[in-house]
Amino acid sequence: MTLFKAAFPENFYWGGATAANQIEGAFDKEGKGLSAADFVAYIPKSERLKDNEMEVTSEAIQKALNGESTTRYPKREGIDFYHHYKEDIALFAEMGFKAFRLSIHWSRIFPNGWDETPNEAGLQFYDNVFDELLKHGIEPVVTLSHYETPYGLTEKYNGWAGRETVDHFVRYAETVFKRYKEKVKYWISFNEINVMTLSPYTGGGILSDREEDPVQAKYQGLHHQFVASALATKALHEIIPGAMMGCMLAKMTHYPHTPNPEDVLKAQQDNQHNLFFTDVHARGEYPTYMNRFFKEKGISIRKEDGDEALLKQYTVDYITFSYYMSMLSSVSPEGEVTAGNLFNSLKNPYLKASDWGWQIDPIGLRVTLNELYDRYRLPLFIVENGLGAYDKVEEDGSIHDTYRIDYLKQHVEQMKEAIGDGVDLIGYLAWGPIDLISMSTSEMSKRYGFIYVDKDDDGNGTLARSRKDSFFWYKTVIESNGEEL
Ligand code: BG6
Repeated sequence: MTLFKAAFPENFYWGGATAANQIEGAFDKEGKGLSAADFVAYIPKSERLKDNEMEVTSEAIQKALNGESTTRYPKREGIDFYHHYKEDIALFAEMGFKAFRLSIHWSRIFPNGWDETPNEAGLQFYDNVFDELLKHGIEPVVTLSHYETPYGLTEKYNGWAGRETVDHFVRYAETVFKRYKEKVKYWISFNEINVMTLSPYTGGGILSDREEDPVQAKYQGLHHQFVASALATKALHEIIPGAMMGCMLAKMTHYPHTPNPEDVLKAQQDNQHNLFFTDVHARGEYPTYMNRFFKEKGISIRKEDGDEALLKQYTVDYITFSYYMSMLSSVSPEGEVTAGNLFNSLKNPYLKASDWGWQIDPIGLRVTLNELYDRYRLPLFIVENGLGAYDKVEEDGSIHDTYRIDYLKQHVEQMKEAIGDGVDLIGYLAWGPIDLISMSTSEMSKRYGFIYVDKDDDGNGTLARSRKDSFFWYKTVIESNGEEL
């Protein structure tokens, strides 16, 4: 018997992924306007109620605008990629990156979101970044919206709750497609579109306290994003023939807590509620299983004439997702709970967890890849995966992050197995290849990088960049196309 040995395809996109609001800084430089992320305050761990509470109130925003707030806003500072991009990209190139995912900060291009004309300095910044990437042979993968709704749209329309935001988004998308026509082939519309239902402020710049019915508003906002994504796909194909538009899901793979059929049904429903988003993007229609949910919750989505046809006609070209952990579903309220990406889960006794309680499950990634490919038969691209951990800098400056290497190695092994199962996986972008501001906690000490950034939770540090052990490990992985782990 010959043992089957899976291998990564040639031209596999190895690399890393980031978001503008977590790295750029320069939040008010060269014409940039304010965005949702600029109002996310830093709350020290001892004062936080939970790690994944990301909503912001109208009152907190007013205080910040009136200069009455004493808190820091770390996403305004990032790691100052705005001024360090050449050095950072050179380090990515040294690791051999084939692709790099970044988002365009919408309010750098249209400061209020609703402006008629774009800000040239903002457009020029991304020209410079893309040129730098291409100079090093690195393919840019660009997210149009990564939790960065311009504040001007929140003020005027309550963000994505207002239908008007669709047109402003399409104007923004068309502007950047035209400008970067020759430079960017891979696009993603909304980062983790499902976040809208978990934190409408983060996902859609929606202030729930301004809505009479916040649940209705977030699903309405989501519908607006689906329509906007379809219109952006249409525009992309017209403006850059051959370019690819992807959707992006925070993938939550749920296992039943026990073999009790009620838990199995609950897991199926939880998985459906996660796949709802990619179902609309890839199959072009609302899945039937959501009708019951909408009825039970009294949600009635207002669709304009032509919306359904748009969703059907302009489906995505590929599917991207983030994968950090798996979850458990149970009908019983009993059991120990642990934190997770965006929401909590029951503890799985078979899994270890990160310093933040996220349960590490590499085999779950193989399960997920098979599930998504079976369901959609579209190319898959992992655009986020990694381990947030505390790093220790030794006296000689070295950082021995074996825990990160172990995590990544086990996930890469499972990706390879999934490719052996027949999954069309085109790339792997590790989250936060350079340390950045955490999305959920705004901490700096929750580090994902191969590259260390000298900055702490209070904003102190030189911002100097240095290579961790994982930097050299990932370089070898890329050089050997995933053969040497
Ligand atoms: C994803 C987001 O959900 O998880 C990223 O798209 C985020 O923006 C990443 O940074 C990791 O989450 P956190 O909270 O550890 O930064």
